[in-house]
Amino acid sequence: MAKTLIDIGNSDRHSSGSSSGSGHPYDAEKALMRLWQRGAEFLGCRYAIMGGAMSWVSESHLVAAISNAGGFGVLACGSMSPELLANQITATQQKTTLAFGVNLILLHPQLDQLMQVCIRTGVKTVVLAGGVPSRETVAVLKAAGVKVIGFAPTAAIGKKLVRDGVGALIIEGSEAGGHIGPVSTSVLAQEILPEISQVPVFVAGGIGRGESIVSYLQMGASGVQLGTRFVCATESIAHANFKRAFINAKARDAVASVQLDPNFPVIPVRALLNHGSEEFLNEQSEVIALFKAGKITQYDGQQRIEHFWAGALRRAVIDGDVENGSLMAGQSVGMVSSEQSCDEILQELVTQAQSHLAVLRQANMELMT
Ligand SMILES: Cc1cc2nc3c(=O)[nH]c(=O)nc-3n(C[C@H](O)[C@H](O)[C@H](O)COP(=O)(O)O)c2cc1C
Repeated sequence: MAKTLIDIGNSDRHSSGSSSGSGHPYDAEKALMRLWQRGAEFLGCRYAIMGGAMSWVSESHLVAAISNAGGFGVLACGSMSPELLANQITATQQKTTLAFGVNLILLHPQLDQLMQVCIRTGVKTVVLAGGVPSRETVAVLKAAGVKVIGFAPTAAIGKKLVRDGVGALIIEGSEAGGHIGPVSTSVLAQEILPEISQVPVFVAGGIGRGESIVSYLQMGASGVQLGTRFVCATESIAHANFKRAFINAKARDAVASVQLDPNFPVIPVRALLNHGSEEFLNEQSEVIALFKAGKITQYDGQQRIEHFWAGALRRAVIDGDVENGSLMAGQSVGMVSSEQSCDEILQELVTQAQSHLAVLRQANMELMT
């Protein structure tokens, strides 16, 4: 257990150990628990740290390991069939008795069946991703006793989701890996956290250390969601080549996809640059030239662009083709420097958070004297 007791009379600002002395020792563990209590209670776990669902990566091994280490694992359904999802849920339940969630993509053609699988298998929390869920979708899950988490890209949408019955919100900034919105985590946090207090709000995107977790909790968040930091977990089934690419990468290598022509929109995705990224630019140039020459319709061109990355994440994560596959990664990839167990990752984050709280406390005390 990561515990940080600091004597507020101790002059070493960076001390994070326990000591006695003039004052009462500052219990940083308790302070952190108080800060994220609402989030931890909502999720039903020890630390209000969600392991953000990552298609192909967040399967039963990683999800159960995150939950067993005190966080909240979330299964990525992605494009799975209802049967496959049911198998994954059962496999996760065999590996942990602790709480975990399931992430469903709203655009999935079998969304209704997938929700029924979650209900039937006793999943307690569903994260609805890839858009804004309808009131009806939220109601179906809630009526079955399932807690629903939605994504709020703006305060107005967050408030609508709260009115429609979601139990919690995630705000995810553009530093994140995978599909991203246009606004950074720090700006979203300032825009949304002061506006929404009815439900717990979890902050995601670019979080790699405990100090950052503390800063969002102190702004009013109830917890956080991290994806990139868990890719190289020992328990992650990601291919060794995929993990190596993460360990070698710097923050600046995780870039948002580039769109060459407004006639051919590109869905923004943050990933590590590789040969596939170059080929994607070539593909767009070719499509634009063919369209301008009247050789293809805009629709056909758009189809080519949209299908370019089909199956590419699987190719990189599972097959290890890191040249041509998609290396979805957030900017926090620069803080991934080795393979660590989920327990080590979570303990590191918690210890950093507690030490930071202790340092802040010490600084406050010094200001008051
Ligand atoms: C490889 C990869 C795959 C992802 N797949 C999904 C997904 O299927 N569904 C989803 O809601 N988010 C997905 N995400 C986003 C994560 O759930 C999480 O919100 C994000 O990684 C948090 O930001 P961070 O990468 O800076 O930690 C993915 C992220 C990565 C890196």
